[in-house]
This record gives sequence, structure tokens and C-alpha cells, in this order.
Amino acid sequence: MPIVSPVRSSGAAISGTRRYSLDNPPEGKYTVQAVGNGMQSEFKPVDVAAGKAATADVSLATAQHAALPNAWPRRNGDVGGNEIWTHQPNTPLVDGDAKDIGATKCMECHETERIVLLRMDREKWELTVARMRDYGDEVGLGQLTDEEASRVVDYLTKNYSGEPGSVNAWPPSAVYLVASTPDGMIWFSEQASDKTARFDPETRVFTEYPVPTAESDMRRVDTDPSNPNRIWWAGDTSDRIGYVEVLK
Ligand code: HEC
Repeated sequence: MPIVSPVRSSGAAISGTRRYSLDNPPEGKYTVQAVGNGMQSEFKPVDVAAGKAATADVSLATAQHAALPNAWPRRNGDVGGNEIWTHQPNTPLVDGDAKDIGATKCMECHETERIVLLRMDREKWELTVARMRDYGDEVGLGQLTDEEASRVVDYLTKNYSGEPGSVNAWPPSAVYLVASTPDGMIWFSEQASDKTARFDPETRVFTEYPVPTAESDMRRVDTDPSNPNRIWWAGDTSDRIGYVEVLK
């Protein structure tokens, strides 16, 4: 496996020859290749021993190989960039009107991850969707009608928003402890906002469940061995315990 490292020129071109050096690389087996001016060299193996200099002579003898087709992290159809999640399946969008638009027309350039990791208010979703439509126009997609755009904004605002007092808001809700239930949901207490909350790792959606009493000071949470839909919490300074049960 060739190791790509920055090289530093240590001399001017002398009769077509140029020297590059790499200071203090870790010892080991390296493969050297030079690429430039549309030409490339053969691969040259070099053994670097501790404290010893090693050299490899290569020549730009053949035409540079054609660029590889788009591949991860610039997979075909993705916007370029560090889409480290592209090796994972698309996160499903939550159900709702215009989900189909989000899952098809909004996916022509990138993954759902761009959407589900964000929480924005209506104004910001409006701006984002407008920007996306501009991108679409630039590449001649012309994909969204005005009516579809406004439905998508409604859908995103409803399902991917940061409501005041939510886990995404400031001041923070002071997440205290997490527990998981057999259905794969992650639960946690929000000590400062009197809520327990559930995180669905599949859809990346947070749902909050307020408890009836203020200043509950909810800290530890635990699952109920006899009821997989119930989460118990302990209120430290409120001297209370309670549970949240999701009715199915
Ligand atoms: C024509 C290609 C294209 C289409 C179609 C497209 N996007 Fe994007 N999207 C991009 C590009 C490029 C970026 C990264 C640059 C940026 O954030 O402006 C991006 C980034 C995003 C982001 C992250 C923005 C941020 O502020 O972090 C979101 C959210 C998003 N898109 C949502 C959508 C939605 C919703 C739709 C459908 C209405 C959509 N995209 C359709 C190209 C597209």
C-alpha cells in the first residue's frame, strides 16, 4: 500500500532531474511514485531503516493514468466533500407529507444525512431549500415546483426543527443519563428542563416527554424489566421518582 506524504523540493531542476526529500519518515517499507505534467513514474519500493537515509530514483516515463471514476468519498451523485457517512445506508426520513419529495428530489445530489443531522426553524429551512433549488437550477435539474418547495419546508420545519426548550436549544437541557430499551431506542433525562427524551438512532429523531412537575431534577433513568415501553427516572433534589411510558 503506497503511503502518500508531502515531499519537499530540495533543489532546482538540473538537466531534467529534480530531487525531493522527506524528512524523518517513520522506518518501514515505502512505495514511491512521481506524478506530474500529465506523466507518471513506475512504483519504486524503498526500505527506510531507523536513522538512515534512503533514496529512490524514478522517472516520469508513461502518460498519467486516467482519473478514477467518482468513488467514496466522492461517490457518483454525491456532492463532493467529506461525506463520511456514505458507506452507511441512507437514514430514513420520518413519515409525513412531502417525505417522498425529500426522499427523491432532495436526494439527487446528496444523502438524507445532510437533512436529518440538522435542526432548523422555518426561516432557515426556507433559506436552505431556496439554496438547494438554486443548485438544482445551476445543473439544470429544475426539480421542485413552488408548491413542492413549500410542502418540503413545512415537512422539514415540522420534523427537523429545533423548538425552544428542546435538546437543541440554549440554555441546554442538561442531559444526565442514558439508557436503552429493547426496541433500540436511547432514552435520557434532561435535568434542567423536566423532560425525559427518546432518541431513535435509526431516524435520528429526538422526542421529548415533559413530566408534570417542575423542578423534578431528573437524573438517573433506567429501563423497566417488566415493561419495555417504560422508563423510570429518579429526581434527586425533588425526592421523586416517576416513569414515562410510551403507549403503543
Ligand atoms: C443540485 C444538487 C442538490 C439538490 C437537488 C439538493 N441539494 Fe442540498 N446540498 C447541495 C450541496 C452542494 C450542498 C452543500 C453546500 C451547501 O450547504 O450549501 C447541500 C447541502 C444541504 C444541506 C446542509 C446545509 C447546511 O446548512 O449545513 C441540507 C440541509 C440540504 N442540502 C438539504 C436539501 C434539501 C431539503 C433538498 C431538497 C429540497 C436538497 N438539499 C436538494 C446540493 C443539492
